[in-house]
Amino acid sequence: MAGELVVREARPDDVRVLLELFRELAVYEHLEDQLHADEERLDRALFGTPPAAEALIAEVDGEAVGYAVFHSTFSTFLAIQGIWLEDLFVRPSQRKGGVGRALLAAVAAVLRARGGERLEWAALDWNELALGFYRGLGAERMDEWVTHRLVGEPLERLAQEAPAVSGGE
Ligand SMILES: CC(C)(COP(=O)(O)OP(=O)(O)OC[C@H]1O[C@@H](n2cnc3c(N)ncnc32)[C@H](O)[C@@H]1OP(=O)(O)O)[C@@H](O)C(=O)NCCC(=O)NCCS
Repeated sequence: MAGELVVREARPDDVRVLLELFRELAVYEHLEDQLHADEERLDRALFGTPPAAEALIAEVDGEAVGYAVFHSTFSTFLAIQGIWLEDLFVRPSQRKGGVGRALLAAVAAVLRARGGERLEWAALDWNELALGFYRGLGAERMDEWVTHRLVGEPLERLAQEAPAVSGGE
């Protein structure tokens, strides 16, 4: 990688470039049809009160070349917060130059500064580029865990069944 690498927190004026990078990741993952983020939603998610997620941007010579998006998790067994890495992406021309590692190191440092102990993420099983990278970091594969997702009509149906939930006082 030629040029100076800077990793910094995203600002509201990064929303547009983040959306471009989301699209590049979605194309890479063959998930373009699932990309519905727009500027308004993303601005609210990252800079609303409270924010739903946080983003870091990697720049080389002032140009965005990668990003990480993450949010807090909680482990009952540890009774301590963790971080879920939602996305990690480096533009193809800048790969294998240390940018991905620098972004993930910055997320790990945020977690440790907050007293967290667990950094987790999911990767597509065909994505050898990412799986090799994660192996190199010493990450553990959680093959015994099966990810679930409830969306659309089944989600709506379940939500409609909800009993009244009273306050905790
Ligand atoms: C995965 C990804 C973020 C890695 O970013 P990167 O900038 O290329 O990674 P780095 O250059 O920081 O690599 C760090 C180390 O991992 C190694 N590495 C990177 N990719 C590797 C691979 N596929 N297999 C083995 N080692 C790998 C590098 O050689 C480097 O090792 P070193 O520190 O000993 O030199 C990048 O390839 C990418 O954006 N891929 C497409 C999107 C994607 O898959 N995102 C993750 C979705 S879960």
